Amino acid sequence: MCRHGSRLAYDRRVPTIREPINALRPDPHVVAAAAAILGDGGLVAFPTETVYGLGALATDFDSVQRVFVAKGRPTNDPLIVHVHPEWALDVAFDEPDVLLRDLARRWWPGPLTLVGTRGGDIVATVSGGLSTVAVRSPAHPVALALLEALGQPIAAPSANRFGHVSPTHAQHVVDDLDGRLDMILDAGETTLGIESTIVRPRDGVLEILRLGSFVLDDLRGFDLVDCTAATSTSAGSPGSGFRHYAPETPMVVVDSGYDGALPDGGGVYLGYDDSHIPSHWEFVSLGDRVELSVVAASLYARLRDADRRGPQMFVAELTGLPGLGRAIDDRLTRAAAGRHHR
Ligand code: TXA
Ligand code: MG
Repeated sequence: MCRHGSRLAYDRRVPTIREPINALRPDPHVVAAAAAILGDGGLVAFPTETVYGLGALATDFDSVQRVFVAKGRPTNDPLIVHVHPEWALDVAFDEPDVLLRDLARRWWPGPLTLVGTRGGDIVATVSGGLSTVAVRSPAHPVALALLEALGQPIAAPSANRFGHVSPTHAQHVVDDLDGRLDMILDAGETTLGIESTIVRPRDGVLEILRLGSFVLDDLRGFDLVDCTAATSTSAGSPGSGFRHYAPETPMVVVDSGYDGALPDGGGVYLGYDDSHIPSHWEFVSLGDRVELSVVAASLYARLRDADRRGPQMFVAELTGLPGLGRAIDDRLTRAAAGRHHR
């Protein structure tokens, strides 16, 4: 047996090319170069409307293995497959039913990920051992141009080290993965800032597996079942276990409008109002609670920036609001591994 096999793979370093690309009118030459790398089995980070993804050819076993290795991600935590809306469904899924087709037709491209039976061309390891696959079509010109040039589905988790805060800037990808991938397409900041919403249509019901940028109000009229309870790791999405989206700094969350005592020793308070923050605490504004899309767009960058300064701890204030507020609060709670200060 080769004792050091996986160890060596983790140590693999490749020169990472960071390629600037216009977010609205991507240069076809740059896109073609990135598609060629993917076609050759390499890894390319690319922007989506939510966060940057770490892409690999979803139909190639070795490519998909490289993603798990580069991220340090357990192989039972499945990846999301990205498709072009024009050839999406029949490539990714095996016999998608009417409901799945209807949802895809209405909402793709967009931040809604749909779970269905895995199509034969997608390698099984993408699904981490499941017979299903999570698929979405990203609403970003660079991502769509890349899919069009490659003509094949791209497996892409968020382009961060496993468990860490997702990347909303190319620099975040560099910070986490430099030397572990071949190219980063740098189109500046992503617009939505929080990952896609994951839904599994089953027997006419939509099971919500992960809250995200796609707001559930848009699914009014469908029969929805919430499987996202933060403690349930098995009922919902595998890999959505508790400590996730997490900074290095130890973190707790507080309820919206909390004005009680803060832990001794100080740290950084991430919230919406600094009027009750004692002087030995640094205040970092998460924005204005009435503009949740702005809060969501910059949330991960705020966490990463504050983390770099190495404070003793973070206290993050929940929004307590419905819609996108629930997705923001979900991410903050997971970043805090469920620790709630009251
Ligand atoms: O916005 C997004 O969704 C971003 C961008 C890059 O598209 N991607 C993303 O991927 O957030 P990632 O790997 O960080 O999250 C993938 C999660 C898994 O951890 C798991 O919870 C869920 O998707 N998932 C994947 N396949 C699944 C399946 N077959 N059934 C249920 N959940 C699945
Ligand atoms: Mg992720």
